[in-house]
Amino acid sequence: MLAIKFLHVLSVTIWVGGMFFAYMVLRPSAAKMLQAPERLGLWNDVFARFFQWVWIFSLLTVFSGLYLIHLYGGMGNVSHAVHVMLLLGVLMLGIFVYLFFALYRPFAAAVQAQDWPRAGALLGSIRKLVATNLALGSAIFAALMLGQLL
Ligand code: HEM
Repeated sequence: MLAIKFLHVLSVTIWVGGMFFAYMVLRPSAAKMLQAPERLGLWNDVFARFFQWVWIFSLLTVFSGLYLIHLYGGMGNVSHAVHVMLLLGVLMLGIFVYLFFALYRPFAAAVQAQDWPRAGALLGSIRKLVATNLALGSAIFAALMLGQLL
């Protein structure tokens, strides 16, 4: 149980922490330091690396979480905070899968084709969904804290 919980918390830390770094640190620095072609090329390279890890750690988050529920004896034996976590966690995974196939893949193709206006527009949409997932991840932490307070 402890090892699975460790894996679960490590996975969410890397997933949510990675989004925080990309959104709050790398994005303003890249916007300040780089012109459009270099900036879009940088994001293309960053996404190619980061999203490989997100696939691993988002799936690990969800499956370790589901396994924890199983170890606790099912949904009837876990707190409301865990119900919220399951709902929002699955939503976060769905948003990532959509972002990857519907936005990142065309973004990478636009960068490859040096179609900077299209790449820029797609990057804007990716940014919004990363912000959404960052907010959902933070809401889960808040729900957990509230669950301990109430
Ligand atoms: C489908 C997705 C998820 C499921 C099924 C799930 C399920 C669980 C379960 C059953 C626990 C153990 C609770 C306990 O021992 O009382 C747990 C712990 C935890 N989960 Fe999730 N989780 C999911 C996604 C997430 C996400 C996306 C985050 C953060 C953004 C998260 C953060 C945590 C944390 C920090 C703990 C440790 C809480 C503690 O020990 O007090 N989980 N999760």
